[in-house]
Amino acid sequence: MSTPTLASPTALRADLEPWTNTAIAALIGERATAALDREQLVPARLAARAAGDDPAALLTRLFALGETLTASQVSRALPTLGLEGAAASGLVATAGTSDDDPVRALVDLRPYETEDHRWWIASDLGEAVTGERLTEDHVLGVGGASLTLASITMRTPVTRALDLGTGSGIQALHATTHAARVTATDISPRALAFARFNAELAGVDLDLREGSLLEPVAGEQFDLVVSNPPFVITPPGAPSFEYRDGGMPGDTLLGSLVGRLGSVLAPGGVAQLLGNWEVRGDWRERWEQWLDGTGLDAWVVQRDVLDAAQYAEIWLRDAGVVPERGREAFDGAYEAYLADFDRRGVREVGFGMVLLRRPSAGPTLRRLESLEGTVATPLGPTLAATLAAHDRVRSLTDAQLLDTHLTVAGDVTREIYGRPLLADPEHILIRQGGGFGRAVRADTGLAGFVGACDGELSVGQILAALSALGVDDTDALLPAIRELVETGMLA
Ligand SMILES: C[S@@+](CC[C@H](N)C(=O)[O-])C[C@H]1O[C@@H](n2cnc3c(N)ncnc32)[C@H](O)[C@@H]1O
Repeated sequence: MSTPTLASPTALRADLEPWTNTAIAALIGERATAALDREQLVPARLAARAAGDDPAALLTRLFALGETLTASQVSRALPTLGLEGAAASGLVATAGTSDDDPVRALVDLRPYETEDHRWWIASDLGEAVTGERLTEDHVLGVGGASLTLASITMRTPVTRALDLGTGSGIQALHATTHAARVTATDISPRALAFARFNAELAGVDLDLREGSLLEPVAGEQFDLVVSNPPFVITPPGAPSFEYRDGGMPGDTLLGSLVGRLGSVLAPGGVAQLLGNWEVRGDWRERWEQWLDGTGLDAWVVQRDVLDAAQYAEIWLRDAGVVPERGREAFDGAYEAYLADFDRRGVREVGFGMVLLRRPSAGPTLRRLESLEGTVATPLGPTLAATLAAHDRVRSLTDAQLLDTHLTVAGDVTREIYGRPLLADPEHILIRQGGGFGRAVRADTGLAGFVGACDGELSVGQILAALSALGVDDTDALLPAIRELVETGMLA
């Protein structure tokens, strides 16, 4: 498989300009859009064909749906770059330049948009298009994990950012919007070629380096490191891919990265990662082991947990190993997974997000929590606000906290549960509408406190009033109040 090289970024950009996700959605409609999410291309192909020679329809058919077009159709879709330019750039393969000669895409190319930016991302053609199993050096396009990492990344302006394991460069492109200099690394030269192509097409500069993990940036420091590392746990004997398996046993690639990331973080610098981790008893124990001795602030959110068998099935399917393609091969690889997990006492596998920070003084933050519900997108602003609130709350003595005036956040509601005939509620939940959608169980003292936080009275004055109303030991509420401030429920 080849990789693209851009003959003329401006020409290709001019041709792709009208090809937006909005244009594609309008073209193919809701049914086909929903089917694409299930990796089913037929409804979209039918709808795009019906749009005739509209350039956006032709681009969609060629680059996103893997259809063979004629040379004249491709010339119409790429009027500035032209068929020859597209072939010279490694974007298409053509048998000739006569009008009816067949032309097919050599890469997957599609628009990628955020609220403020618009790029196009080239990557290897997917299985849905080629009908074949992915090769070991497959370069992934924008997937669910890419979107999750992009959503949780804090977009604070920084000087230097690193995208470790850049793939086709999606996180690095995002980083160019708020970092003065972006370095992007990958072990795969093919991935770096795609990242270069995508950066040139976007008109941004990336400092691209080949090598494993932190090796290409040893001795350097970054204000932000983002990484969607190859965190999938793959036992010997199961199919492996460069884009998802780091080639280390179990989840040790993630653990070793966590242990070493501090060496490339500038003081105050932050690393944000996604990962899978093995669960033997309490999932937090593995994290405590990895974090102890790093000297880093850490916030880990476990978003999902799968039992070992479910995990094996999901990643075997992702590798194209399914019973329909050969029961024996599927069963063999499945056994390899379970034997490996059982040998090492792994019962479940956790998935989630990781935020590490190199503190300027000693570490103050270690939050290891399970939050599995729906979250706001983007989540980066919530993370940034939580870190800032943590630092503020930590710097306050109890006496200073008592002097503070707090306001309940606009997205917080209170839910009261109890039998209708009982005078008092059985429990009260303070629920956050945005961010992580946290729900905190409150006793009547804490619920009364939150209900009085309109900014008028100080914390101390509200606690005194509660005490006068018969609430015992109001000072005991202070840790819970700190937690509500840290998590953004009180401001
Ligand atoms: C899951 S993909 C992430 C791609 C992209 N950053 C994203 O967010 O979608 C992981 C990437 O890590 C790369 N990779 C695999 N092993 C690596 C290693 N030891 N060091 C650096 N990169 C590696 C793969 O080639 C792949 O591009």
